[in-house]
Amino acid sequence: MKVNLIGAGNIAEYHARSIKALGYELGIIADFNEKAAKALAEKYGSRWTTSTDSLLSEQADLVTVAVPNAYHFVVASAALSSGHAVLCEKPMTRSADHSKRLVELVKQTGCPFFVGYMKRMHPTVQKFADFSSRIGQMRSGLVRVYHPMPRESWPMITEQLAKFPSTPMDGVFVNSGSHMLDLLLKFAGPVKKVMAARMQYEDGCYPKADKLAHALLEMENGATIVVECGWLPLSGVGKRENGWDELLELRGESGLATLHTTWWERPQFESPVAELWDESIKSKESYIGGMIDNFQEEYRWIEKALAGENTPLASAEEAYAVDRLIDDIFEAAGVPIHVEGVLSE
Ligand SMILES: NC(=O)c1ccc[n+]([C@@H]2O[C@H](COP(=O)([O-])OP(=O)(O)OC[C@H]3O[C@@H](n4cnc5c(N)ncnc54)[C@H](O)[C@@H]3O)[C@@H](O)[C@H]2O)c1
Repeated sequence: MKVNLIGAGNIAEYHARSIKALGYELGIIADFNEKAAKALAEKYGSRWTTSTDSLLSEQADLVTVAVPNAYHFVVASAALSSGHAVLCEKPMTRSADHSKRLVELVKQTGCPFFVGYMKRMHPTVQKFADFSSRIGQMRSGLVRVYHPMPRESWPMITEQLAKFPSTPMDGVFVNSGSHMLDLLLKFAGPVKKVMAARMQYEDGCYPKADKLAHALLEMENGATIVVECGWLPLSGVGKRENGWDELLELRGESGLATLHTTWWERPQFESPVAELWDESIKSKESYIGGMIDNFQEEYRWIEKALAGENTPLASAEEAYAVDRLIDDIFEAAGVPIHVEGVLSE
């Protein structure tokens, strides 16, 4: 399989590494930051360009879009319009309207299109599918995504703001919450009604990015789900006591299914954990699928999908549902509560 890569930033490294580890061809990398494109291309032995158009004029089995969220719509649309199969990083776009248009473009072009909700790929998550089907009538649930405040990343954020002052910045809810909302919709089905509240920083540390985003969802299956996402400077909490406090819990009449997911950059060092409390036998089953690199799994599945197999990859329609839910939660929250920025501390 030959893959071309648009974007040579943080996450592109994980894509390039996976493409090479699987023995696929990494053809060319495009980034309008010449230094970034050249450095990544030299590290992974590919060609590079600063022109996305020139990359898209080349044949490839897959084009991976790994640019910031705000550019997904434009870059993924261009990749589809030039007839390419696309892996687009998550979230698919930054508005339900753009995502809907992308779903239509996928239908028009007939090109395969996958969204990088790679947490789905892990065998532990496949096991969670089994556990969640054994809880009886679903009554309630919890989506929790708390990450420690990354103090050391503040200079990176201010640099980004200086470079792209008009680009909206996304907080933990959009960046990591989207993964967990994707899993929620996959295992609990569609949402009927949304209530929400959010808290944002004043200008300063993360302007316009959420500190906390909370929601209460009524699902079409009648269950109620609590969503809590945020940045808080707690480093010793979560399943592994490393500050990554992220889980999906589904509670039914006869069981409780829990999925603890891992820090996104550590799938090859930490495994997600799935658990099932089964009320009928009054016992708990646990499953740890092992240290598996989600990014590599994603490419393995894409190769199978391109060969016509059914896969757990996220489709454009599924990713659109996540983006619609994000918009609905923001709309239901209305004007955010503001707290002071902490950059000047
Ligand atoms: N799957 C995951 O768990 C995961 C984890 C982290 C980030 N991500 C996603 O990866 C994407 C990229 O994030 P990142 O942290 O690598 O960002 P980044 O800022 O480190 O890198 C983005 C790169 O894209 C380049 N770029 C921007 N617009 C471009 C355009 N129009 N054409 C060509 N190049 C362009 C920038 O110059 C930069 O080098 C985001 O959508 C993010 O949500 C996914």
